[in-house]
Amino acid sequence: MNPLSKALLTTLLLGLVALTSSAPAAPTTTTAPFTPPGGLGTNSTPPVYAPMSEFDFQSMNLALNQEWIELDLFHHGLAQFSVEEFEAAGLDAEDRYLIQFMAEQEVGHAIALTNILGPNAAKPCNYSYPFTDVRGFVDFCQKLTRWGESGVYGFLEHLNSRDAANILLQSITTEARQQMIFRQFEGLFPMPEWFIPGITQSMAWTLLSPYIVTCPAENPKIVWQNFPALNITNNPAPDEENLSPNISSNVTALSFPGREVSLTWDSPGKITGYDGLYTTNTTAGDPKFVAWITQLNTTYTSLTNISGNSGTTIQPGGNIFGNNTAPLVNSTIFIAITDADVFVTPANISMINSHIVAGPAVYQSG
Ligand SMILES: *[C@@H]1O[C@H](CO)[C@@H](O)[C@H](O)[C@H]1NC(C)=O
Ligand SMILES: *[C@@H]1O[C@H](CO)[C@@H](O)[C@H](O)[C@H]1NC(C)=O
Ligand SMILES: *[C@@H]1O[C@H](CO)[C@@H](O)[C@H](O)[C@H]1NC(C)=O
Ligand SMILES: *[C@@H]1O[C@H](CO)[C@@H](O)[C@H](O)[C@H]1NC(C)=O
Ligand SMILES: *[C@@H]1O[C@H](CO)[C@@H](O)[C@H](O)[C@H]1NC(C)=O
Ligand SMILES: *[C@@H]1O[C@H](CO)[C@@H](O)[C@H](O)[C@H]1NC(C)=O
Ligand SMILES: *[C@@H]1O[C@H](CO)[C@@H](O)[C@H](O)[C@H]1NC(C)=O
Ligand SMILES: *[C@@H]1O[C@H](CO)[C@@H](O)[C@H](O)[C@H]1NC(C)=O
Ligand SMILES: *[C@@H]1O[C@H](CO)[C@@H](O)[C@H](O)[C@H]1NC(C)=O
Ligand SMILES: *[C@@H]1O[C@H](CO)[C@@H](O)[C@H](O)[C@H]1NC(C)=O
Repeated sequence: MNPLSKALLTTLLLGLVALTSSAPAAPTTTTAPFTPPGGLGTNSTPPVYAPMSEFDFQSMNLALNQEWIELDLFHHGLAQFSVEEFEAAGLDAEDRYLIQFMAEQEVGHAIALTNILGPNAAKPCNYSYPFTDVRGFVDFCQKLTRWGESGVYGFLEHLNSRDAANILLQSITTEARQQMIFRQFEGLFPMPEWFIPGITQSMAWTLLSPYIVTCPAENPKIVWQNFPALNITNNPAPDEENLSPNISSNVTALSFPGREVSLTWDSPGKITGYDGLYTTNTTAGDPKFVAWITQLNTTYTSLTNISGNSGTTIQPGGNIFGNNTAPLVNSTIFIAITDADVFVTPANISMINSHIVAGPAVYQSG
């Protein structure tokens, strides 16, 4: 660095120190050895492991609500079903211990996020679950952890606190492993995608809220939108394929391009979530398209046969980077009904929130 820019940088740093009284003394050297210029947060400024905006608080508090349900869900499944029922589903004592260990991981994730959020952090709630057998439990875990991870990938890069974002990421990479293990417990191919999609906070909250029944009164009100529910009435069901737990297996495709997908959806204004506090809402116009949120892409198909709150669409083909690359649609993905086919990429996917008529729903394409 030349002496002039070094002096300039020192002046800037001193200015910053003057602004933040709690900041430590200015470092005597501004560039660490063996460190190329650029990057953010690489100097001796103390990291901020706290929300730096309401956006940060609300995003991470949503993630904390997700961690709490995972903790409850894993314990709940282990308690609800007998050893015989687990064994009949091909899950032995060591597999059950792995689920218990996942619950313990959730304890750690909840502590980390609570420490970041401070005294107003959400506390655990009471939940209701849609499954009645072990396979249904494993399938629900596999889907819930998918929207857990995708829900975070959608906002991580938009947080003001990069330092808090990193700790959150360190928990979500663990959750991603849980998701894959639940797929293996189900006998599905562990990871048919090349990229895990990100979804918006409002999409994640829409998927999560129906399962939370009641919460401590002091839990912060979640501000994200609850979209009207979307139901895929012919969602491919892995449990119809007679699969058994496997590290990997060449499962016959659960779905295919050209498959007709049948959809029904709610009108807005329905109470959802816990304690009657939340109402579904949409700001979109008439239903016209189905958004397929998968890999890095959001692609659209036409919504057809529209009659009241039902319609059909056709599963698209296509490959992420052209011929001989991964199909766009495979694995546990998201679809939503929209009023327009707005082009979005991972960093601006929130631009479709205002176009969502209903959804998302989790589509079990593979
Ligand atoms: C959960 O339900 C139980 C039994 O109805 C109730 O006593 C408890 O307060 C509820 N917990 C929360 C966090 O709402
Ligand atoms: C979705 O549709 C299927 C098939 O009609 C039905 O069995 C299921 O109960 C519906 N789920 C919801 C949440 O409405
Ligand atoms: C795993 O799948 C392979 C083939 O898909 C099969 O031969 C094997 O028996 C399966 N393993 C278990 C434990 O079911
Ligand atoms: C699994 O599928 C791949 C890709 O289609 C194929 O190359 C491979 O031969 C299959 N293996 C088995 C054991 O079926
Ligand atoms: C999804 O991936 C699995 C594993 O590679 C493959 O067997 C299946 O055919 C794929 N499904 C689609 C719809 O491409
Ligand atoms: C949806 O939200 C908007 C903006 O807050 C509000 O004006 C509208 O009444 C809400 N619609 C329903 C159905 O609750
Ligand atoms: C939906 O519409 C398409 C043509 O747009 C038609 O081929 C298909 O049979 C219809 N499906 C149903 C379930 O009505
Ligand atoms: C999916 O996204 C990738 C990366 O942005 C792009 O190259 C590809 O063309 C997209 N594929 C489709 C079918 O939209
Ligand atoms: C992809 O495959 C199609 C059909 O085989 C072919 O017509 C097209 O040229 C291929 N595209 C590229 C970019 O290789
Ligand atoms: C989202 O970003 C892409 C560039 O990655 C841009 O082409 C597109 O117009 C943006 N969409 C909206 C709705 O702003």
